[in-house]
Amino acid sequence: MTALLQVSGLGKRFGGFVALDGIDLEVLQGERLGLIGPNGSGKSTLVNCICGTLHNETGSVRFDDEALDGLTAHQRTRRGLARSFQLPRPFASLSLAENVRIPILYSVNARPSGHHLHGAAIDERCLELLGMVGLAGKARQMPRDLTQIEMRKLELARAMAADPKLLISDEAMAGLSHAEVDEIIALLIRLNEQGVTVIMIEHIMRAVMEFSQRLAVLVAGKKIADGPPKDIVRDPEVVRAYLGE
Ligand SMILES: Nc1ncnc2c1ncn2[C@@H]1O[C@H](COP(=O)(O)OP(=O)(O)O)[C@@H](O)[C@H]1O
Ligand SMILES: [Mg+2]
Repeated sequence: MTALLQVSGLGKRFGGFVALDGIDLEVLQGERLGLIGPNGSGKSTLVNCICGTLHNETGSVRFDDEALDGLTAHQRTRRGLARSFQLPRPFASLSLAENVRIPILYSVNARPSGHHLHGAAIDERCLELLGMVGLAGKARQMPRDLTQIEMRKLELARAMAADPKLLISDEAMAGLSHAEVDEIIALLIRLNEQGVTVIMIEHIMRAVMEFSQRLAVLVAGKKIADGPPKDIVRDPEVVRAYLGE
């Protein structure tokens, strides 16, 4: 299999604080990767650098055989890179249907080549996306009407609306019940089976183990382990730095 995402020597500072230190990470086409590590270890910062919401000072990001360095977040989304935010960020004044319509207009339809959607096909796609996460019946409602899990599902539907090749889910499960966690895992696995490569950032180890084909571990801005989940959870350094907490 070929690498869809290739992060090499990526470094990011905030003032004098080194948030990411020489991160190398490859994600294969079609893979399900779990990214774990203590709070503050740099997971979200890495996602932000990959997606272009933050700029890394060193290193590079290649995606789908193209260097992303210098491209804006929007340009990266159009190339097939989508993420959900740890704290859902819906457009508060727009209905759910309109919330998923925006990424269709500005990502899918803004691609220079490819399949653009028009007229009724956009409405159908909006309902299809909301249906995928079980929110089709609420298409006309506003984000403020949603429960916490519905909000997280909307966040995933918005990311999927951009028709990504790679979806990065940043702690989509915090605060959810056991059954709700199962729902989100099933949803992410379903998307993966449809061909979307997925990086899942999560603290709930049950979810991480159920989902991931491979695990990468960040601690204090460094990747300390990367490999099969069953090996990673027994790695003494990982246990000491994270799992033993
Ligand atoms: N915009 C920022 N400005 C300054 N420091 C930041 C910023 N974003 C993150 N940090 C710091 O970088 C470190 C890594 O944060 P983050 O990537 O959010 O960790 P994680 O997602 O693994 O919990 C933390 O110490 C955090 O306080
Ligand atoms: Mg985070």
